[in-house]
Amino acid sequence: MTRETIFPHRHLLGIQGLAPTEISALLDLSDDYVDKNRSADRKMTTLRGKTVINLFFENSTRTRTSFELAGKRLGADVINMQVSASSVAKGETLIDTAMTLNAMHVDVLVVRHPDSGAVKLLSDKVNCAVINGGDGSHEHPTQALLDALTIRRRKGHLDGLTVAICGDVLHSRVARSNIHLLNTMGAQVRVVAPRTLLPSQAERLGVEVFHDMRRGLADVDIVMMLRVQHERMLGSFIPSIREYFHFFGLDYEKLAAAKPDALIMHPGPMNRGVEIDSDLADDVERSVIREQVEMGVAVRMACLEVLTANLQKDFR
Ligand code: NCD
Repeated sequence: MTRETIFPHRHLLGIQGLAPTEISALLDLSDDYVDKNRSADRKMTTLRGKTVINLFFENSTRTRTSFELAGKRLGADVINMQVSASSVAKGETLIDTAMTLNAMHVDVLVVRHPDSGAVKLLSDKVNCAVINGGDGSHEHPTQALLDALTIRRRKGHLDGLTVAICGDVLHSRVARSNIHLLNTMGAQVRVVAPRTLLPSQAERLGVEVFHDMRRGLADVDIVMMLRVQHERMLGSFIPSIREYFHFFGLDYEKLAAAKPDALIMHPGPMNRGVEIDSDLADDVERSVIREQVEMGVAVRMACLEVLTANLQKDFR
């Protein structure tokens, strides 16, 4: 397969619907970029003359910076646009922005937006390729890809692994994209959370549901912690931080239920002492949190490469 055909889509809006071969191909290509990024000679010309715009309607550190770095390493011109999402004019802002960017002949648009579905809406209005950098609580495909790459490089495979995704699943696009990816690749997925932080009928996502950390973590290969997303909570979802940490925060004692070589992951940003014990987060014997950030750049380079290669084609 040539690089142009490994991913026959115009946009990367989500993991749902991608074929296992497409996910594997993106991960293989990302693997090459990890090696390249570790070498001294890491400036490339693959995207020379191309323009990538990071259009962020929501705060971001890791995702925006790593897309910027990924684009620049590949030789593209990268522009960051931070747009404040006024809730009143949201719909109008989106379409107007799409029109403006269309007129500028942008090649790839990386979009983050607080509303689920907003990135898809925008992708219907522009001529360039669109990558979803996170839309509401819907999807965050490059995060799931970088998580999968981290796991695959450590464990050698994804199929047959048991992964526990713990914490604020309700508000998490990271959880949703990971559930789709891991299920597609043959892993077993569990979610562990209080009832208030789970979507209704969570089982329908293809996961086993637990409300107790020790049971949920029993014999798992991977423990993926999620941030408690206070900014998306309108009412009271948890009684107190102390109580949350007591029951759902990951510490050495709860981790003891998992396999002895289980890996700890977190997409960042972390609330230390809320969903994860600070020492455990920094424990390089168990935590691969920093590695996840490194994988993020490689994965985003792979995504930018395949989507720009597809631009001439007539994918929908
Ligand atoms: C996540 C996000 O924004 O969805 N962060 C990230 O992209 N690394 C998770 C979060 O905000 O908790």
